[in-house]
Amino acid sequence: MSPSWISRPRDIGDKSDVNVNSSPVSRSCLSRKSKRFWMLLCAGILLLIVAIGLAVGLGVGLTEGSGGGGTSPSPPLPSNNNTNATSGDFWRPTAGSSWQIVLQNPPTDTSLNVSVYDIDLFDNNASTISAFHTQNKRVICYFSAGSYEPNRPDSSQFTKPDFGKGLDGWPGELWLDTNSTNVRSIMSARLSLAASKGCDGVDPDNIDGYDNDSGLDLTESTAVDYLTFLAIEAHGYNMSIGLKNAGAIVNATVDFLQWEVNEQCVQYQECDLFRPFVAAGKPVFHIEYPSDAPAVPLSTKNSLCDAPSAQGFSTVIKEMSLNDWVEEC
Ligand SMILES: *[C@@H]1O[C@H](CO)[C@@H](O)[C@H](O)[C@H]1NC(C)=O
Ligand SMILES: *[C@@H]1O[C@H](CO)[C@@H](O)[C@H](O)[C@H]1NC(C)=O
Ligand SMILES: *[C@@H]1O[C@H](CO)[C@@H](O)[C@H](O)[C@H]1NC(C)=O
Ligand SMILES: *[C@@H]1O[C@H](CO)[C@@H](O)[C@H](O)[C@H]1NC(C)=O
Ligand SMILES: *[C@@H]1O[C@H](CO)[C@@H](O)[C@H](O)[C@H]1NC(C)=O
Ligand SMILES: *[C@@H]1O[C@H](CO)[C@@H](O)[C@H](O)[C@H]1NC(C)=O
Ligand SMILES: *[C@@H]1O[C@H](CO)[C@@H](O)[C@H](O)[C@H]1NC(C)=O
Ligand SMILES: *[C@@H]1O[C@H](CO)[C@@H](O)[C@H](O)[C@H]1NC(C)=O
Repeated sequence: MSPSWISRPRDIGDKSDVNVNSSPVSRSCLSRKSKRFWMLLCAGILLLIVAIGLAVGLGVGLTEGSGGGGTSPSPPLPSNNNTNATSGDFWRPTAGSSWQIVLQNPPTDTSLNVSVYDIDLFDNNASTISAFHTQNKRVICYFSAGSYEPNRPDSSQFTKPDFGKGLDGWPGELWLDTNSTNVRSIMSARLSLAASKGCDGVDPDNIDGYDNDSGLDLTESTAVDYLTFLAIEAHGYNMSIGLKNAGAIVNATVDFLQWEVNEQCVQYQECDLFRPFVAAGKPVFHIEYPSDAPAVPLSTKNSLCDAPSAQGFSTVIKEMSLNDWVEEC
């Protein structure tokens, strides 16, 4: 019910050099069709989520109070004793690889002539992933590594001390303390799930809480430490792993991560931050969300695809909802 899988837009005011809606709220929740309808729907969802959140919070509180923690199954251990974030023979995509990203639903059209699909870890199964492999495509599995989403199968395993403030514009979704042992063991289990489904790599979202009012003590070095942890585990499963946005820590992570997934760097004029990946021969999987999608005028498409700052990036034009619709550059 919560659109929590949608990659979040950031509010960088009037820096945009293309025509897009500037309000993060309108872009996240109210962007389509009748504004009034969506406003009512969003309000309804918000109320429901607050109610569920309270119920879950209460439940967790009670479990903790009764000395719980023994009830949740312990996550499987990584498949090896990897301690090196860079080594391994996992898949390493090359800069410029073509891709598609669909997070709203399991992809309907799986036959696009691209080499990589980025799809939701929980919403897709091993048969879907193996069907991609039959087509010689690689699969990156998306999950949120830095936020609590109320509607994931393992959501009840997070505990109150893991939570920070809500994510702006994302009702029910909370920043997570990425240094929490509990959070890390839940994420280990997610990586194990990804490996068991056959994902070639993982796309951990929301690792840039240091840049936000998270209510937690998250710094750039917490984020680098967290990504090091995730990379060692992912590589231990023979999966690769990328960075998501987080321009400030590109230099600190480019050596042990296999790609960057960036949103809107042309719009926000910050593509240069991500260029070190391409310079290292690694893809920058780049998304722009023009406001007129899916009816993007050729002139808009060209200005995004041909943006000098994004040359060498793997650019796709998408709707915010990250549904099937895509315009490949
Ligand atoms: C990992 O290391 C531990 C301790 O060094 C050892 O007992 C265990 O067998 C190792 N596991 C694997 C899969 O190599
Ligand atoms: C990790 O592995 C890489 C590549 O195999 C190697 O160059 C590097 O020295 C290793 N680092 C450590 C800390 O073992
Ligand atoms: C690891 O992944 C690479 C790339 O997909 C593959 O060639 C290799 O066989 C895999 N190694 C293992 C041990 O599964
Ligand atoms: C798919 O894309 C590749 C690389 O761009 C190209 O060489 C190939 O001809 C395309 N295949 C089809 C069926 O369009
Ligand atoms: C896997 O997912 C696909 C698409 O959602 C579905 O059609 C298929 O039945 C699922 N397969 C299994 C084994 O669950
Ligand atoms: C993250 O921080 C930026 C910059 O302060 C802000 O514009 C954006 O809305 C925040 N995002 C979320 C999801 O809170
Ligand atoms: C993270 O947790 C470890 C122990 O689990 C602790 O030693 C370290 O100080 C913590 N770091 C931060 C930034 O809280
Ligand atoms: C990353 O390194 C490059 C090359 O050394 C440098 O130009 C750039 O300013 C650095 N980025 C940040 C965010 O510090």
